[in-house]
Amino acid sequence: MPGLVIAGLQWGDEGKGKIIDYLAAGAQAVVRYQGGNNAGHTVAVGNEEFKFHLLPSGILYPNVTCVIGNGVVIDPGVLLGEIESLRKRGFDVTALRISDRAHVIMPYHPILDKLEENLRTDDKIGTTCRGIGPAYIDKYARYDAIRICDLLDAEYFRAKLPRVLEVKNRLLSVFYGAPTLELEPMLQQYLGYAEALRPLVTDTSVLVNQALRQGQRVLFEGAQGSLLDIDHGTFPFVSSSSPGAGGVTAGTGVGPTKINAVLGVIKAYTTRVGAGPFPTELPPDEVGSLRDGQDGRGREYGTTTGRPRRCGWFDAVIARHSARINGITAVAVTKLDVLDPFQTIKVCTGYRYRGELMQELPASLRVLAECEPVYREFLGWRRDTTKAKKIEDLPCEARVYLDWIAETVDAPLSIASVGWRREETLTAGDPWGVK
Ligand code: GDP
Ligand code: IMO
Ligand code: MG
Repeated sequence: MPGLVIAGLQWGDEGKGKIIDYLAAGAQAVVRYQGGNNAGHTVAVGNEEFKFHLLPSGILYPNVTCVIGNGVVIDPGVLLGEIESLRKRGFDVTALRISDRAHVIMPYHPILDKLEENLRTDDKIGTTCRGIGPAYIDKYARYDAIRICDLLDAEYFRAKLPRVLEVKNRLLSVFYGAPTLELEPMLQQYLGYAEALRPLVTDTSVLVNQALRQGQRVLFEGAQGSLLDIDHGTFPFVSSSSPGAGGVTAGTGVGPTKINAVLGVIKAYTTRVGAGPFPTELPPDEVGSLRDGQDGRGREYGTTTGRPRRCGWFDAVIARHSARINGITAVAVTKLDVLDPFQTIKVCTGYRYRGELMQELPASLRVLAECEPVYREFLGWRRDTTKAKKIEDLPCEARVYLDWIAETVDAPLSIASVGWRREETLTAGDPWGVK
């Protein structure tokens, strides 16, 4: 039962898409378990680039079954658009399966997401405005939620949508003073989506458990990162799901005993999109060295929204926090090449709070706001790492840096990524094995 979770250890965009694509070559299934099209996972093959928002990042392999699990919130229009654009590029998407229990993002969800953000003043989250939060609110509130199986049941959907829309329209008009939405076009549009999706819908818990029982290799693809986790992240500047390994069982209907390894993906530095604390963030006049980097290889602009990412040094406090809550068994370090030109590389080893040294991430953002990062410096390697073919080819200083990260997260290095292309990936150990 080789189940391997791929989880981001920072604020998302760690390069999970690239790592999943790389590992999918040796897997039979890739399963998304939370989030929605707030995710943007980049896969580069040769000179072609793909950005996946809902499609699992193993979708380019014809022999890999890709699954969107019950924990994901699905915008059907976005999903069908992604499927269509991939088909046009010559890829077969028929092996995709969608959970009948996944929740549906309806047209009012992104609208409410934007209106809620506008309502906030100095506490804006900076969401992707894709309706993720409002869709999860409806799921947990239970009354207004629509699942994929509800959408496929035309009679039920026709009866339910008018009741739900009446409530949403009242919220839109009375509370927000915003235009209301029409029932009939929405009904027709979503019934159309239902027919297009129907052949792909199944009980994915049965499917994935069967695959695991047969000894197939299954990758569980996390979206976002542990610091955006609703429970363990920098709340309330988080997303509305559980991106860590803990989200896999609820989000797929696979028991924890079926998962045998967790690969944490971490950048060689730190980035964040949207608002919220970021202790090691570089000031605006320095951020370009990471955001764009040498020859523009940093490319730190949001895959989903195009927003410039905030960038800063590696933070060992959050790395240890994420490694712990995920129980990682191995680590993949990405974007090492972006550090190539630096003479010295700073890393935060702890926080100083009112004169005391802190090693753990505080729950209170008021405390975190007062934390000063404590830095140490590594000698830079100032050599091109992108041409390395194996870990041993890396400059000694780069290997010292990687070893320190592995020691920090208390897990062996499995992969070092030195470029966005598939082949710019160095393997140090088998991530499918247990620590
Ligand atoms: P994800 O959300 O975790 O899948 O990450 P994104 O795709 O949003 O962002 C990662 C970005 O870094 C993408 O543009 C990738 O193509 C790129 N990338 C991934 N790994 C590397 C690497 O090792 N080096 C460089 N230079 N770019 C990388
Ligand atoms: P991937 O999977 C980076 C951030 C948003 C915002 C917060 C809440 O590509 O790593 P939401 O729309 O989810 O309610 O926004 O979370 N965010 C991400 N940041 N990568 C992502 O996904 C993200 N998904 C959400 O910027 O700060
Ligand atoms: Mg991303």
